[in-house]
Amino acid sequence: MCGIVGYVGSKQAYPLLINGLRRLEYRGYDSAGVAILGTDGLIVSKCKGRVSDLEAHVNGTPMAGTVGIGHTRWATHGEPNDVNAHPHVSTNGDLALIHNGIIENYAPLKEELISRGYKFSSETDTEVLVHLIDDIRRNEGTDLAESVRLALENVVGAYAIVVVDRNTPGTLVAARKSSPLVIGIGEGGDLFLASDATPIVEHTRNVVYMEDGEIAILDREQGLRVRNIKNQEKRPSIQALEIQLEALEKGGFEHFMLKEIYEQPRSIRDSMRGRLNLAQGSIVLGGIKDYEQRIVNAKRILIVGCGTSWHAGMVGEYLFEEFARIPVEVEYASEFRYRNPVINEDDIVIAISQSGETADTLAAIELAKGRGATILGICNVVGSSIARQTHAGSYTHAGPEIGVASTKAFTAQVTLLTLMALMVGQRKGTIDGARYRQLLLELEAIPAKVEKVLKTEAQVKYIGDIYKEARNALYLGRGYSFPVALEGALKLKEISYIHAEGYPAAEMKHGPIALIDEEMPVIVIATHGASYEKVVSNIQEVKARKGKVIAIVTEGDTTVKEIADHSIEIPASPDAFVPLLAVVPLQLLSYHMAVMRGCNVDQPRNLAKSVTVE
Ligand code: G6P
Repeated sequence: MCGIVGYVGSKQAYPLLINGLRRLEYRGYDSAGVAILGTDGLIVSKCKGRVSDLEAHVNGTPMAGTVGIGHTRWATHGEPNDVNAHPHVSTNGDLALIHNGIIENYAPLKEELISRGYKFSSETDTEVLVHLIDDIRRNEGTDLAESVRLALENVVGAYAIVVVDRNTPGTLVAARKSSPLVIGIGEGGDLFLASDATPIVEHTRNVVYMEDGEIAILDREQGLRVRNIKNQEKRPSIQALEIQLEALEKGGFEHFMLKEIYEQPRSIRDSMRGRLNLAQGSIVLGGIKDYEQRIVNAKRILIVGCGTSWHAGMVGEYLFEEFARIPVEVEYASEFRYRNPVINEDDIVIAISQSGETADTLAAIELAKGRGATILGICNVVGSSIARQTHAGSYTHAGPEIGVASTKAFTAQVTLLTLMALMVGQRKGTIDGARYRQLLLELEAIPAKVEKVLKTEAQVKYIGDIYKEARNALYLGRGYSFPVALEGALKLKEISYIHAEGYPAAEMKHGPIALIDEEMPVIVIATHGASYEKVVSNIQEVKARKGKVIAIVTEGDTTVKEIADHSIEIPASPDAFVPLLAVVPLQLLSYHMAVMRGCNVDQPRNLAKSVTVE
């Protein structure tokens, strides 16, 4: 939800900012803008559209300067247009400001500033900040950092902001509350700043993750200084970045999404590495080791997440209930937090988030923490807010996921939940020894099986070509495959804009069956296992209404193959591990249908990858 970059140093800022914005474009692409402070003063250029549109817009304008800020927007207040694009500039042209988040009390602040003569040009909530800081600076005679601090005392909401002031050359002032900011400390006094580490990694590996309530002063001469909102100096804690630069490139694939789908054998392996030990028959999750006994004793587990992470949580519910015999409730983080939920001190809450920044998930964590529960995180982004707010957790180690539609993060999240559930089940004695060892062997074999599933791509593409003009699609599954049906439907609708719904296969006859006609593709996960025969009957019901069935079947299946219009084979596997395999052809199907429909699969309309607003 909006990407922020900043730079102070000895190099030209503009190319650095543009490269940084390209890396952050997954956070929103409604508009883009930069402000550069150089010999020509403070130059601001911004426009509706993507970073490439900004480059075309800038074309020819001199952008010389070694201090600058850049922004890529996901619109909340005010439609995506040139005027609402960031940076926003003070009336006298002294200050330029970028913002990620929402200023909740912007309306009264705006009213007051207007009554004092300030003119607003945009419809954004952000613009109040720049006028407020400017007002304080001029009336109180305070320096930029102090003016920012005083202004923020009046602000309610979430923000990561960066301000540049033409009277304070060589300095950027940044502040955060709820929205992320990372500072990079480079060579020779170079300082970088961004919403995540991806724009920084090619310049330096030394970073400082800003904490909520902190204000940072990035100064070419004096380096980095950090204060809290009460104006007390803090010692920044420098950490080393582990991301590899190649992980941020497409590596020969046409889109990040396809690359990330193909990375899954590796990313699933990485999420098990050092944790699953076949020789010893053990699972060790170092990050939650101290909390193991509490999980074993838990009377209830609550899983919270949004989007794809919520779907992974649903698989987690089945896993924990089957292997560890612990009741599980899976909650949309946004619903959980506004419902006054019953949370007990001995509850375990597992928060799942790829980005580790989703505002609703963060708020759900705060709520559960306040009621005394133990909070564990499953996050992909190292050092992210959720990873830091939880009591303990395990990283998925899937590597940076850049395509807005989540793929490898889902399978990595499910892998971790599988490891957790098996570990707890073994400790509790709710899985017998022989079955446990067999399951470990099966889990270890999953990455190789995913490699095999990826070989179905040409066939999946062929099927996608037949149905690419569909207006609706239905996804069906039972048991462990029901969350996969939800995830398959989400993938199709978010990147191809075809309306799609996921349903438990048996629920089809309670409503969606009315939609089935000759045009309707019905994608059914019909693998061998506990509910195979029941799903076969559901397929018959679809065929009886002339629906078109695309079935995901177990290798060697003959029954479904005879009745379905198309079948895609995946290797045999225990029911509990089917999601890790069955989701792959569904990811590929959405990808190819979206590409054939001419959609921008990596940056689908209206979406953003990191949802830092509620
Ligand atoms: C957005 C993304 C989804 C993601 C969801 C939750 O909607 O487009 O791909 O599943 O947020 O994000 P998180 O980072 O918390 O997993």
